[in-house]
Order: sequence, then structure tokens, then C-alpha cells
Amino acid sequence: MVAESEPERGAFYGRRKGKRLRPGQEHLIASLLPRLRVPDDGPVAPHALFGPPPARLVLEIGFGGGEHLAAAARAQPESGFIGCEAFVNGLAKLLAVIDRERLGNIRLWDQDATALLPRLPDASLDLIYLLYPDPWPKRRQRKRRFVSDTTVAEFARLLRPGGEVRFATDIDDYAGWTLARFMRSPAFIWTAEAPGDWRRPWPGWPGTRYEAKARREGRTPSYLTFRRVER
Ligand SMILES: C[S@@+](CC[C@H](N)C(=O)[O-])C[C@H]1O[C@@H](n2cnc3c(N)ncnc32)[C@H](O)[C@@H]1O
Repeated sequence: MVAESEPERGAFYGRRKGKRLRPGQEHLIASLLPRLRVPDDGPVAPHALFGPPPARLVLEIGFGGGEHLAAAARAQPESGFIGCEAFVNGLAKLLAVIDRERLGNIRLWDQDATALLPRLPDASLDLIYLLYPDPWPKRRQRKRRFVSDTTVAEFARLLRPGGEVRFATDIDDYAGWTLARFMRSPAFIWTAEAPGDWRRPWPGWPGTRYEAKARREGRTPSYLTFRRVER
């Protein structure tokens, strides 16, 4: 029998490239990305990636085209955002927005997020977004899901006490899967207080591109918030 949830390698199983990039996008990947990219090796001092150290540090894993990340960075200029996305066309989209709007509070990791997490220090993050991770709905593929006991333990290490993980999915089975893994971790509580809380997004929620498609196709999102308890 295959072990239920733990990926045996990294956690990126998607496409790295889609449509051929336009010359302007190629240019941003070659010129702007190296200035914003988290360095490849060694421990990362995340606050030092930004000009003045940010008041809060936020990580978004698998940002797709970066619509949510850009909106959050615009809304909270005092926070620093690290976005992880291994799909080059998504990166190119976000780079265009960063360049056009001169957003100064986003840094990028363009590889598998699981290669970055162990390099970040304990209790360094205030908030982690995992929005519509690839659902891998077939039973034999579920072990590829980003959420596992291993990633939950890593999130617990990375968040300061009181910090949060915000998770969204349009796949009910993935919501249940995620709840089960966070609820069996002593490091997290689920913050829902009233029935229906998990159907309500967070204040100021701009939505994501994937979410809009899920809604068009008749699937209802779930929004789960897990708070890191005191150590
Ligand atoms: C279903 S899409 C959702 C994108 C976006 N969050 C949204 O809601 O529109 C999942 C994204 O996660 C990225 N991804 C999946 N696994 C990843 C990993 N291990 N590291 C970095 N990115 C990953 C994929 O490339 C893809 O763009």
C-alpha cells in the first residue's frame, strides 16, 4: 500500500512552462526576476530581503498569476510578501504588475516551495496563504497534495505564535483532508466560530483567478483559517 499522504520528493508536479513568453515577459524574467528572487542557497533572513524591514512577513505558496498576491501587497505596503510559484508564465504575469505599479514589497521564489521552507527561520512568518493548491482529486494522486503532516509541521515551525495559515479550495474532499491534518497537529487551532464561517472569505478578499473559474463551473469554495497557538 502507498503511504497515505507524504510526498516522496518535492511537492511540485505541475507544468513549469505554458505558452511561449512574449519578448516583454522574457525581458522581465531576465532583468527584474533576478533582483527580486530569493537567493538559491543557504539560510534565508527573510526580513533582510526587503529595503526597510517589513512590519509583517507574508508567504503565498502557488500564487498562479499573482492576482491575490498583488492585491494584498498593494493593500498592505508595510508588509513584506514572499511569493512562490514554479510556473514561469504565472511569474511573468506578476512581474508585469510589479513593474508597472512599482510594487516594492514582493520577493519571489520561482522553484518548488518545499525547497524554500526549510531555509526560513523559526517563527519568522506572520501569515501563510495556500490558495487553491492543485487538488489532485484521484485517490492514487492524493499523496501529491501540498498539505501533508510534513508541511503542517513545517508551517508550525515557521509561524510566530498567533500567526495564521489561510487555505482555500473548491474541492470538498481537499477541505476535509486539510482540516484533518491541521486538527491533529497540536500547534494549530481552526478559528471557525459559527456555522458557515468556512464559506466566508477573509476581509478585503480580492478572489483569485482559479476561484473565479471554479465558481463559473459551479464549485463552491471553502476558506479555512488555522491559528498557530503559543509555543
Ligand atoms: C490550481 S493553481 C492556483 C493558482 C492561484 N493560487 C489561484 O488561486 O489562482 C496552483 C498553483 O500552484 C503552483 N504550485 C503547485 N505546487 C507548487 C509548489 N510545490 N511550489 C510552488 N508552486 C506550486 C502551480 O504551478 C499552480 O500555479
